[in-house]
Amino acid sequence: MRIRAAVLRHPGRPVTVEEVELDPPKAGEVLVRVVAAGVCHSDVRYADGELGPGHWPGVLGHEGAGVVEEVGEGVTHVAPGDPVAFCFVPACRSCRYCLAGKPNLCSVVAEHGAQGMLMDGTSRLRLPDGTTLRHGLRTACFAEYTVVAAGGAVPLPRELPLWQAALLGCGVVTGLGAVRNVARVQPGESVAVLGCGGVGLQVIAGARLAGADPIIAVDRVPEKLSLAREHGATHVVDAAGEEAPMDAVQRITGGGVDFAFEVIGRPETIRLAWDVIRPGGSAIVVGLAPDGVEASVPAIEFLSDKSLRGTYYGSGDPATEIPELAGLALAGELDLTRVVTHVDGLDGVEAALDRLRRGEGARTVLLVDADLAGHPGAAHRGS
Ligand code: APR
Ligand code: ZN
Repeated sequence: MRIRAAVLRHPGRPVTVEEVELDPPKAGEVLVRVVAAGVCHSDVRYADGELGPGHWPGVLGHEGAGVVEEVGEGVTHVAPGDPVAFCFVPACRSCRYCLAGKPNLCSVVAEHGAQGMLMDGTSRLRLPDGTTLRHGLRTACFAEYTVVAAGGAVPLPRELPLWQAALLGCGVVTGLGAVRNVARVQPGESVAVLGCGGVGLQVIAGARLAGADPIIAVDRVPEKLSLAREHGATHVVDAAGEEAPMDAVQRITGGGVDFAFEVIGRPETIRLAWDVIRPGGSAIVVGLAPDGVEASVPAIEFLSDKSLRGTYYGSGDPATEIPELAGLALAGELDLTRVVTHVDGLDGVEAALDRLRRGEGARTVLLVDADLAGHPGAAHRGS
C-alpha cells in the first residue's frame, strides 16, 4: 500500500514526509494504523547519524500507539480494531537472553533490528523507486501505517487515549523500568535525575511512585525544572546556575545520593552521575550516547563500593509492563499528559526534532490520526 511516512534519506538532511510503499504483514506480523507517536531524543541521534552507519535510508519513529488493521498468519494476541502500543523490542522468547528472563536483550532483535529489519531480516518498506527502507528501531511509526513483529504491538485498555498511550513504549517503560527494575528504589532512598526531558521526567515519576526522598532534578533549562517539580521532584538544580550541581547535591543530601540516573547520554553528565552518588551508591546510565563516545570515572573510587551500570528499555519485560503502566495511568497514579508540551501532525516531525536539538519543551506527540488520538485540542493546537 502507498502511505505517507517520515523518511531519513541521509543524516544531516531534514527528515522528509513522503510517499512510500508498505508491503502487507507476513506470518507473525501485524499491520497497524498509526494514531499518535512521540518524538524522542534517540530519533535525533538517528537523524543526525550519531549512531554510526547502517541506519539509513529508513522511516523513523519508535514510540507510539495505533489501531490494528490486519494480522498476519498465526497472530492471535491482537485482532483488527484493537488499540496497541508499539514495543521496539519484540522479543523472540526462545533465544538465550529471552530464556534467561532478559527479553530486552533478545538476540534476534539485536541481530536484525540493529539493521532496521524485521525479525526475519527483511523490510516491508520501499521508496517508490524500489530502494529498500529500514524500519527505524523496528517500529517506523512516523507513518500513517506500519508493519511490526507481533511482539511489537502490545494490546492496550480501550479507555486510555492514544495520544497518551503513545508515550508508553519508550519514555515511560524506559524511565520507570530504570527505577523499578534496575535501581529497585525503596521508600526514603535518595535519587538524582540528570536530564529532565521526555525520558528523565518518567524517571522522576517512577522515583516518586517508589517513595524516593529526596528526588533531585538537574537540568540546564529552567522550563524542564518546573516540569520536573510537577512530576515529583522535591529539589531542582539548574546545571547552568552559579552553584555546581555536585555541590548542590552534596548540600541537599549531606554525602551524595543512593542512585543517580543519567538521562542525557553525554560523557560529562555520566561523570556527574558518578560524582553525585554516595559510597555504595549506583550511577545508572539511561541516556543513549553517540557512537564512539567514551565515558570515564576515577577508578580509585571503585574502592568505595560505587557502581556504574547501564540499562536498556527498562531492563524488564516491556510486553507485560506496558499494559501494567497503562493501568497505572488509568488509575490516575501516572500522569502522561504533562510531559506532552507540543502536539502536531506527521508533517511536524522535523520541527519536533529541532526543538529537541535546542532543548525546548519535553515531548512532542505527532497526532498522525487526529480523530482517533483523542487529544482535546487536536483540531486547534499546532506546534
Ligand atoms: N546538563 C544538564 N542537562 C542537560 C545537559 C547538561 N549538560 N545537556 C542536556 N540536558 C538536558 C536537556 O535540557 C533536556 O531537558 O537533558 C534533557 C534531555 O532531554 P530530551 O532532549 O527531551 O531527551 P529524551 O527524549 O528525554 O532522551 C534522553 O534518553 O532514551 C535516551 O536517547 C535518549 O539519550 C536520550 C536520553
Ligand atoms: Zn525513545
